[in-house]
Amino acid sequence: MDIINRKVVEYTESFTTLEPDIVRRLVKASEDGLDYTNMISGRQVGILLRILVQISGARRILEVGTFTGYSALMMADVLPEDGELITIEMNQQYEEISKPFFAEPPFDEKIFQIMGNALEVIPHIEGTFDLVFLDADKIHYPKYYPILKERIKSGGLLIVDNVLWGGAVLDQSTEKAEAIHKLNETIRTDKDAEQVMLPVRDGVTFVRFK
Ligand SMILES: C[S@@+](CC[C@H](N)C(=O)[O-])C[C@H]1O[C@@H](n2cnc3c(N)ncnc32)[C@H](O)[C@@H]1O
Repeated sequence: MDIINRKVVEYTESFTTLEPDIVRRLVKASEDGLDYTNMISGRQVGILLRILVQISGARRILEVGTFTGYSALMMADVLPEDGELITIEMNQQYEEISKPFFAEPPFDEKIFQIMGNALEVIPHIEGTFDLVFLDADKIHYPKYYPILKERIKSGGLLIVDNVLWGGAVLDQSTEKAEAIHKLNETIRTDKDAEQVMLPVRDGVTFVRFK
């Protein structure tokens, strides 16, 4: 299902800031190295993330699901000098593409990638976060919410991607759509959270914890 009319998507994208040069080089490397790049969150979500990082003053970010590093680079690029972004990925093929980009200064001082299953990795990461971007392992989305919520500071943000799952959440026709819908319900009924779900690309929810 096209969630938004394609022409409207093209129009709105054309009025959205272009990615920085390093991110465009990363997209090219991903396209050259892989048969598919549709997991990249894309320009509209990417620029939204950058704006949120900047206006929230976030210094410590956790990302669940690096893929080849698009959203990690987008956010780290606008972090302050002493800010850090920890990003978790389990597929080494994607790590090979992101690695040289994450090694470029100043990203080498800001981005820390951990390889492994996020549900197992997160308990071993210390401290709290100003902003968390959840963008992996949709089938387990409901499990991530309590784990991430307790690690997000008061006033901090959780951003969840793919909350519409191509429209399949409307009738929960697949197991993944059912899991994503379950998380959507949990967020809606969480009295500690203020949230907005937007039909941008595949649906994004922004949650602010009191
Ligand atoms: C949608 S992509 C992330 C896209 C990325 N945030 C971007 O904007 O380019 C999801 C990624 O999560 C990874 N992944 C899936 N399940 C995972 C898990 N349990 N732990 C860590 N990474 C996982 C996949 O290999 C995939 O690269």
